[in-house]
Amino acid sequence: MRVQRYWQALIVCLIIGAGSASADVHSFADPDAYRQQHLHLDVDVDFDASMLSGYVDIEFERQGRSRPPLVLDTRDLIIRSVAYYTKKGAWQRLPYQLSKADANLGRALSIDLPGRAPRRFKVRIDYETQPEASGLQWLTPPQTAGGKHPFLFSQSQAIHARSWVPLQDTPAVRFTFTATVRTPPALRAVMGASTTAADREAGRYAFEMPQPIPSYLMAIAAGELDFQAIGERTGVYAEPSVLEAAAFEFADTERMLEVSESLFGAYRWGRYDLLILPPSFPFGGMENPRLSFITPTVLAGDRSLVALIAHELAHSWSGNLVTNSSWRDLWLNEGFTVFLEARIMEALYGEDRRRMEERLGYEGLLGDFASLAPAMQRLAVDLTGKNPDLVFSQVPYEKGRLMLVWLDNAFGRETLNDFLQEYFDHFAFKSIATEDFLAYADANLLADNTAGVSRADLERWIFEPGLPDVAVLPSADIFARIDSARERFLADSLAPSAIDTEAWSTQDWLYFLNNLPDALSSEQLAALDDAFDLTSAGNNEIAHSWLLIAIRNDYQPAWPRLEDYLLSIGRNKLVKPLYQALMATERGGEFARDVFERARPGYHPLTITVNEQIVYPEGR
Ligand code: BES
Ligand code: ZN
Repeated sequence: MRVQRYWQALIVCLIIGAGSASADVHSFADPDAYRQQHLHLDVDVDFDASMLSGYVDIEFERQGRSRPPLVLDTRDLIIRSVAYYTKKGAWQRLPYQLSKADANLGRALSIDLPGRAPRRFKVRIDYETQPEASGLQWLTPPQTAGGKHPFLFSQSQAIHARSWVPLQDTPAVRFTFTATVRTPPALRAVMGASTTAADREAGRYAFEMPQPIPSYLMAIAAGELDFQAIGERTGVYAEPSVLEAAAFEFADTERMLEVSESLFGAYRWGRYDLLILPPSFPFGGMENPRLSFITPTVLAGDRSLVALIAHELAHSWSGNLVTNSSWRDLWLNEGFTVFLEARIMEALYGEDRRRMEERLGYEGLLGDFASLAPAMQRLAVDLTGKNPDLVFSQVPYEKGRLMLVWLDNAFGRETLNDFLQEYFDHFAFKSIATEDFLAYADANLLADNTAGVSRADLERWIFEPGLPDVAVLPSADIFARIDSARERFLADSLAPSAIDTEAWSTQDWLYFLNNLPDALSSEQLAALDDAFDLTSAGNNEIAHSWLLIAIRNDYQPAWPRLEDYLLSIGRNKLVKPLYQALMATERGGEFARDVFERARPGYHPLTITVNEQIVYPEGR
């Protein structure tokens, strides 16, 4: 079977050109043979054993005439049995094998189907997860805000759904699902789905996701959670002690939803709620359908980091409605989403705010370009043999955004808005590759060629490294005041205490700090810290930028905060650059490894995998 797939893949490569194959290299499944259509999950959340235990029923549809074994993705799962639902309504055991484990992909579960299986059939897999499941984090009570109850959450993107459900773990395949989840009675279970029944006393919940989704959007969490409404279709789930702050911080969510609908078309998922996770959540946010998972590190108290909500909400169109069919094409999700996020931010908070965030994003991209091989600077990037978690960068995000900004400039806002609405409509609930976007844009945007944009221009953006000359780069003019303050400070003509920062926004601060020279004197550092109390900054993004500076310049007074920061926050985007900066200094390595080892028990598996490579460059 593997051999046959190899030849098929080779032929496809030869036909459409090497490197552009759209098959998913991160899944063992063969969606050309079978496709999962619907899934029912029935699990117990067992905090004592740190495992999900139960079964999943999956309905498949055979695609062609041949009946090869059915192959699913798994990772660290214990498979107890596999059964087939017969015409007579009985469960018939099926033979199966698990392949040897691949470090990135896990193990293929090959199921021998009965000879006469009809086109549509159902399989039940009885299984349990392992405590180290890469897509789950089991938190002990002290790792939560309340400190009394344990907490569980999933993070399936990119290829971790397979560590908690055996399934075709590829974004190329979409399915609907229902679920029954049992938790200890004090806890509430939630999923990225609608709750159809909740018996809180019994700890029994039922969920339904009627819209077809890809596997990476399957999500579950359980903890001591309360709910507060924000608007008619929006609300927040959080631990009781965090709920009020979260409802305040994200009070604009309903307005964001309304603005998004007016810009991108109807919201097709029913409700839009937020789930605030403990600080070990490895991402800023995750666009799980109907229920975005959100880091608590954006609870700044002043709503200054809510672009994250605009981003996750925007995924309801770019990503969840129109989905990348493999991780090569992640830019179709993330680049479009960053572009939509900016549209939302501008509509709510004005053009200046949008321009500031655009500039900060662009500077982040330049930072990444500096350390990325040319092949990784493409929008469509060949990830064969790579672990998606280890090649995460700003390229699909910010270069993708810049491509759309360039189209926006060339065609005008109205034309591009119309194009995007039609694109979301045309490909709604479909998974597409870069080539599908190209063909669609060619036919529906470039066809009359009034803007002088050609398909070759688009292909240059997508398949070549760096940025093309035509890129419209976000100007720093919007931060002119900040540049001038920084220059005067560096020229020694302005003491920090004399800089009027009263009206500075979080974005102004980030721009100020991120553009300080690498080397500062200890007097300069102390003066900045004295004037602005940066070491105790309450805003986690500002603290992050300051700590990077502190590390580069061995500014010891910030060390206790740095240690506390690395021990209490697990959001990879905030901790990884700190470990990298530490490793680039002479004495930082030892400190980095010491803190990392103490932080490890509280970190999410993804944060461990990524940062372990950084603090132990030669292996442990
Ligand atoms: N979907 C992503 C997170 C992700 C991407 C997880 C790829 C796994 C693989 C999410 O929407 C995201 O982009 N989060 C960002 C938000 C930011 C760009 C506003 C994050 O977590 O920092
Ligand atoms: Zn995103």
